[in-house]
Amino acid sequence: MTVDPGSLDTLMASRYSCRGFLPDAVPRETIEQIVATARRVPSWCNAQPWQVAITSGEETNRFREALKQEVMQAKHSSDLPFPDSYSGVYQDRRRTCGWALYDAVGVTKGDREGSRQQMLRNFDLFDAPHCAIVSSPVELGAYGALDSGGFVTAFTLAAQAAGVATIAQAALAGYSPFLHRYFDIPEDRLVLCAISFGYADPDHPANQFRTERADLDQIIDWRG
Ligand SMILES: Cc1cc2nc3c(=O)[nH]c(=O)nc-3n(C[C@H](O)[C@H](O)[C@H](O)COP(=O)(O)O)c2cc1C
Repeated sequence: MTVDPGSLDTLMASRYSCRGFLPDAVPRETIEQIVATARRVPSWCNAQPWQVAITSGEETNRFREALKQEVMQAKHSSDLPFPDSYSGVYQDRRRTCGWALYDAVGVTKGDREGSRQQMLRNFDLFDAPHCAIVSSPVELGAYGALDSGGFVTAFTLAAQAAGVATIAQAALAGYSPFLHRYFDIPEDRLVLCAISFGYADPDHPANQFRTERADLDQIIDWRG
């Protein structure tokens, strides 16, 4: 069976990380369909290491409030180490997308409090009505995380196909001990990231920019 490659490209080009959601809930059947599609990604030995705790309704609000309380007093602690640094081209790309966001929301250069407030929006889940916490078994190590990364991407694309906006968030994984406690995620699983999702607020300033991608010659090293 073949699928029109243009459709996939259109879907991938239309997805973006949403940082301003409407309050409307996504129906349970739609969420199930997104997960059912995302689980089709390949994984080493077909281990399918990903699991998700998904909040809805009042439970999302309860979680959001508890998370914000935690962030006020807890120190950063993640199951997976965060990157040590971003240098060279990675630093450039990180800065470019950071400034695109700050420009969109009106944070000017040197406005440290403004950028801090925008960063803290992560812990409001950008007002999303749902949040998925993604975990993978410790024993599968980096490859479990790699497989789960594929699942996260597929989740965002399946959601986009259903008209549901998403944002993957490593920011929440910086409070992994709290997430283990809050969601009863056992210690033999790594908390990898969150995916906040719902319907995009198309007028939200944070949704008014799109990120660029490197040219193919920066990605492919042709041999032959
Ligand atoms: C694993 C992962 C973690 C991310 N963590 C965050 C985050 O904590 N906060 C945030 O605002 N964006 C986060 N993002 C979104 C990226 O900034 C975004 O994907 C990137 O800038 C490309 O933009 P696009 O998704 O709009 O195409 C994350 C993305 C991924 C894949």
